[in-house]
Amino acid sequence: MNDPRSTTRATRLLAGDAAGIAEAAAILKAGGLVALPTETVYGLAADATRGEAVAGIYAAKERPRFNPLISHVPDMAAARMLGRFDDVSERLAQAFWPGPMTLVVPRAPGCPVSDLALAGHDSIAIRMPAHPAAQALLRACGLPLAAPSANRSGRVSPTSAVHVMGDLEGRIDAVLDAGTSTVGIESTILSCLDGTCRILRPGGLAREEIERILGRPVDEAVAATADAPLAPGMLASHYAPRALVRLDAMRIAPGEAVLTFGAQMPAGLDDALASINLSPAGDLAQAAARLFAALRELDATGAATIAVVPIPRRGLGEAIDDRLRRAAAERA
Ligand code: TXA
Ligand code: MG
Repeated sequence: MNDPRSTTRATRLLAGDAAGIAEAAAILKAGGLVALPTETVYGLAADATRGEAVAGIYAAKERPRFNPLISHVPDMAAARMLGRFDDVSERLAQAFWPGPMTLVVPRAPGCPVSDLALAGHDSIAIRMPAHPAAQALLRACGLPLAAPSANRSGRVSPTSAVHVMGDLEGRIDAVLDAGTSTVGIESTILSCLDGTCRILRPGGLAREEIERILGRPVDEAVAATADAPLAPGMLASHYAPRALVRLDAMRIAPGEAVLTFGAQMPAGLDDALASINLSPAGDLAQAAARLFAALRELDATGAATIAVVPIPRRGLGEAIDDRLRRAAAERA
């Protein structure tokens, strides 16, 4: 394996079978960096308990260090080693784990996760992924894995091993290839502190589903500011393709690349450079699954602008809209 402190590493592509998972577990136990498939997006994993390994994630991604990482676990026993669950978080965990949900809860006494992964917070973000390869890898290495999305900071999140290689080849030790992420958009992050339940980041689990289990609306989100974003990683400009992104497009200018949804066809579509329909049937789950790959594909056409038709905000539409707004935000 490569030196854990080095930022230049030979990156191996590992098959998502038993041999690949064993190899990936060995790399992680030795303090290395492995991109792992989850049902939401690919994550860049390291041993969450080792500061030196976690430092490698920040270096490979060029991620600001004030931004804490999600710790991934295979089961509830492992989750309880890291965080304290109250009635609300317990009920949500029972209903939606394993799955596309992250819970921010108070740190458990003796929580072994490194301070670097927590970025100084006394709460911890925990996720139990459902993807069989992620589950197998977590069990094989027996460690909580810190894993942000496996893209360079600020770029579009990866939903395939090819996307990860494009962003991080030469900076990480391996990519475990287990096909395309089925949910396609990051987990919904819920903060469960002091008996409240707030959405910090909309994602692959819809608000309606959460409210069905809570039996009430989620609590009002606290307004985020540029100095104190809700989830510290949720900076306004994010998920940025190279092209400018133009939202709520009803009319297409010649030469634009276009993202459509359902049966709505904006005026001027015939003069577009390229277009992709996220879901001809108008299915928001399908649109979420295809969103990031579609943004990458349209960006690769070289168009100066990607125009996006209006997307309904119900269900997973809330998370799709959130990602598109960040992709469209003014760049720093
Ligand atoms: O689906 C996902 O959540 C993927 C896969 C790989 O699990 N991970 C992911 O990680 O999206 P990342 O690092 O790109 O986003 C995690 C977000 C960041 O915005 C971070 O600031 C926030 O979670 N976060 C982490 N710990 C937190 C905490 N204690 N309190 C509030 N926000 C936290
Ligand atoms: Mg990310």
